[in-house]
Amino acid sequence: MNVSSVKSKIEVDDVSFRYPATEGAGKSQLEHLSFDVREGEFVSLIGGSGCGKSTTLSLLAGLNRADQGQVRIDGLETHAPGKNRGVVFQHYALFPWMRVRKNVEFGIRQVSEANKKDIREKAERYLKLVGLEGSENLYPYQLSGGMQQRVSIARLLSMETEILLMDEPFGAIDAKNRVVLQDLLLALLERSAKRRTVVFVTHDIDEAILLSDRILFMKDARIAETLEVPFEHPRNREEIVTSRQYQEFRRRLFNLFYDFEGEESEIAKGIEYII
Ligand SMILES: Nc1ncnc2c1ncn2[C@@H]1O[C@H](COP(=O)(O)OP(=O)(O)O)[C@@H](O)[C@H]1O
Ligand SMILES: [Mg+2]
Repeated sequence: MNVSSVKSKIEVDDVSFRYPATEGAGKSQLEHLSFDVREGEFVSLIGGSGCGKSTTLSLLAGLNRADQGQVRIDGLETHAPGKNRGVVFQHYALFPWMRVRKNVEFGIRQVSEANKKDIREKAERYLKLVGLEGSENLYPYQLSGGMQQRVSIARLLSMETEILLMDEPFGAIDAKNRVVLQDLLLALLERSAKRRTVVFVTHDIDEAILLSDRILFMKDARIAETLEVPFEHPRNREEIVTSRQYQEFRRRLFNLFYDFEGEESEIAKGIEYII
């Protein structure tokens, strides 16, 4: 997708943030963080554990507020959650007292005035899409972690918001279903009449390449590197992963992620041999 001529949907402008509980401790959780996400763009945040990915997403969701700098959506500074944004949290956040269908319907109701029947149908349609047909009447505790996460994903997708904020949404899902859900997300975004803007956290390099237009590599509370993913849409997993360009790009990202460039450890050599 050529998005270079498209306006910014999200602007993170010189944002610093510290959790109150860490007052007086060393560095802030985010330090002078700046990046833009263009309308219709899919941006992934990757980086080691604790570098601030989830914190960044919480600011975009309006769940935390920057101490310094601004988060702007459609050019307007934002401090609170809004109907234009849907979130999937890293740790599935379902209401334990609500059945699966109700959990999804609740999300839809936050953003839509549709009638009861339409909301129910939509919830069922999205639950079917994520492979949960037949589980609509169960409670979250009756589902595996991966299935609960699929309910969260169905809830997010069914809200059909302009902006999707996804924090390691497929992390708890088994390998087979992960592939299915990655392909589903890609297809939904590519076929959607309305352009969606996505900020996606992952530490799966292949997932980041397959889905993203741009990958932001975070390190030490800021963006250390930005990589444009060199594949057009619509994307085909088979075509992409078997291309030489993919191998080259993947290696670049791998080196960045594991910081193996320059100094090649025994582990790095071992891993390079395996992959
Ligand atoms: N609620 C919180 N209170 C205090 N510190 C937190 C809180 N949540 C996260 N942190 C700290 O903020 C830093 C960034 O965390 P996080 O954004 O969750 O990282 P990531 O998602 O990249 O693994 C970590 O050092 C983490 O321990
Ligand atoms: Mg996190």
